[in-house]
Amino acid sequence: MQFKNVLLPLAVAAGSDLDGISSCSIFKGDIVFDGSLATASINGIESIEGDLIVKNITTLNSLTAPLLANITGAFTLEILQSLTTVSFPKLTSVGDISFITLNVLDTLQLDAGITQAKSLIISDTTIKSLKGISLLTVDTLNINNNKFLTTLDFNLRSVSNILEFSSTGSNVQLTFPYLQWANNITLRDVSSVSLPNVTTINSTLSFTNNSISSISVPKLSAIGGSLAIVYNGQLTNASFPKLQTIGGGFQVANNTKLESILGFPLVKSVGGAINFIGSFDNATVPSLEVVQGGVSVESDSELFNCSSWNDLQKEGAIRGDSYQCKAASVSTSVAITSGAATATSKASKASATGSVEASATASSSGAGYMVEASSFGAIAALLFQLL
Ligand SMILES: *[C@@H]1O[C@H](CO)[C@@H](O)[C@H](O)[C@H]1NC(C)=O
Ligand SMILES: *[C@@H]1O[C@H](CO)[C@@H](O)[C@H](O)[C@H]1NC(C)=O
Ligand SMILES: *[C@@H]1O[C@H](CO)[C@@H](O)[C@H](O)[C@H]1NC(C)=O
Ligand SMILES: *[C@@H]1O[C@H](CO)[C@@H](O)[C@H](O)[C@H]1NC(C)=O
Ligand SMILES: *[C@@H]1O[C@H](CO)[C@@H](O)[C@H](O)[C@H]1NC(C)=O
Ligand SMILES: *[C@@H]1O[C@H](CO)[C@@H](O)[C@H](O)[C@H]1NC(C)=O
Ligand SMILES: *[C@@H]1O[C@H](CO)[C@@H](O)[C@H](O)[C@H]1NC(C)=O
Ligand SMILES: *[C@@H]1O[C@H](CO)[C@@H](O)[C@H](O)[C@H]1NC(C)=O
Ligand SMILES: *[C@@H]1O[C@H](CO)[C@@H](O)[C@H](O)[C@H]1NC(C)=O
Ligand SMILES: *[C@@H]1O[C@H](CO)[C@@H](O)[C@H](O)[C@H]1NC(C)=O
Repeated sequence: MQFKNVLLPLAVAAGSDLDGISSCSIFKGDIVFDGSLATASINGIESIEGDLIVKNITTLNSLTAPLLANITGAFTLEILQSLTTVSFPKLTSVGDISFITLNVLDTLQLDAGITQAKSLIISDTTIKSLKGISLLTVDTLNINNNKFLTTLDFNLRSVSNILEFSSTGSNVQLTFPYLQWANNITLRDVSSVSLPNVTTINSTLSFTNNSISSISVPKLSAIGGSLAIVYNGQLTNASFPKLQTIGGGFQVANNTKLESILGFPLVKSVGGAINFIGSFDNATVPSLEVVQGGVSVESDSELFNCSSWNDLQKEGAIRGDSYQCKAASVSTSVAITSGAATATSKASKASATGSVEASATASSSGAGYMVEASSFGAIAALLFQLL
């Protein structure tokens, strides 16, 4: 059976009968479209107490709901290769928005504007703008592979679970002027990001494979989990002037243009491991008092030296199971075991002089096992971040 124009309320499926028409404006239950419709109009309904799911209908080009204000469950549009019109002029509140694989849709007609949703997932679409979606809080925001979505300005105040952005497009600019906290932020393939008002990241903050030239998070004071800044080939400056604590690992790796890691003046404790690798001339975290995990710092710059890290290790600030610092000329590596430290210190180039003696100032044996366990966890967390 083929429907050309469908009037609801009804649950519609190919082959089902078009019965159950009622005049009430609240529809209780799920509305699921499939089959081969060309247009679908949800008329008369103001509120759906359930899901609205439209999936895998190659023929559908228009979906409208003139009066619909509220969908308590999921609003799912998925695999709709011909869909060009989505008109929901009254819609303001949705449970979970999921728009996935919409190959020709460029505009959402959301005149009233969606201001409430628990999650927003937009993946693999040709949507050009998120105008009409303006959320203040959200649990999950995941926007990936939308090659025409390049400028995004969000009103969000907080993200209680995941904020994940990645794109195959270039020149994506993200702005979060009001965001104060988020549980977990992961950004990829972004060319600029602005997080001027973020004070807390409850779990992880990760910047991977972006074309950002500068990262600045001026008000951020605490990260509950790890911080990772990895493979950002254009990055020349990373600035976290207020950051004091990092609960997990701290990784700054393979940002080839980053000449110095000096943007963490107040960081005093790191709950996991530190892993810095690159071509930086300087990498100093001057306020650092304790690193619960191991430390690995490696630069191939001739100007880099390990002195500040060797000092930190001598002071016993590194509680993890290993310390390693490699400069182009001298490298130091120390395996810290419970009780005593076994130090190996070697000059990796014949011309190197003054290789550093690592002193046996590892933490006392009582804490040894615990410390190793926690640092291993931190390293595992870091590896996980990279996947
Ligand atoms: C989409 O529908 C077609 C039939 O119209 C079916 O063959 C295909 O498996 C469906 N794809 C998905 C991902 O559901
Ligand atoms: C949406 O519907 C739910 C359940 O009927 C109701 O609790 C909520 O207030 C409605 N929201 C709006 C914006 O109408
Ligand atoms: C930034 O956050 C503070 C609260 O931490 C708030 O008072 C202020 O209005 C926010 N600024 C902007 C531009 O949203
Ligand atoms: C943070 O979000 C990313 C991307 O969604 C996910 O891979 C990672 O596991 C999350 N991290 C934590 C600690 O929840
Ligand atoms: C994250 O931290 C903020 C600021 O401290 C706090 O208000 C919020 O409740 C925390 N959120 C979660 C999910 O722990
Ligand atoms: C990194 O981003 C480039 C585009 O900027 C992309 O071609 C490449 O596949 C990405 N690499 C990874 C590992 O994500
Ligand atoms: C790095 O960025 C911060 C914040 O934007 C700025 O204050 C600082 O001067 C920059 N540092 C360098 C070396 O450009
Ligand atoms: C950084 O690059 C080096 C050399 O290509 C590689 O061995 C290492 O695994 C990379 N580290 C990270 C964290 O990506
Ligand atoms: C090591 O580098 C720092 C700057 O990062 C410099 O102040 C110090 O003099 C250097 N030490 C040696 C032995 O070259
Ligand atoms: C960076 O390191 C080089 C070489 O040790 C040193 O000359 C320079 O002053 C350092 N820069 C800063 C900002 O510490």
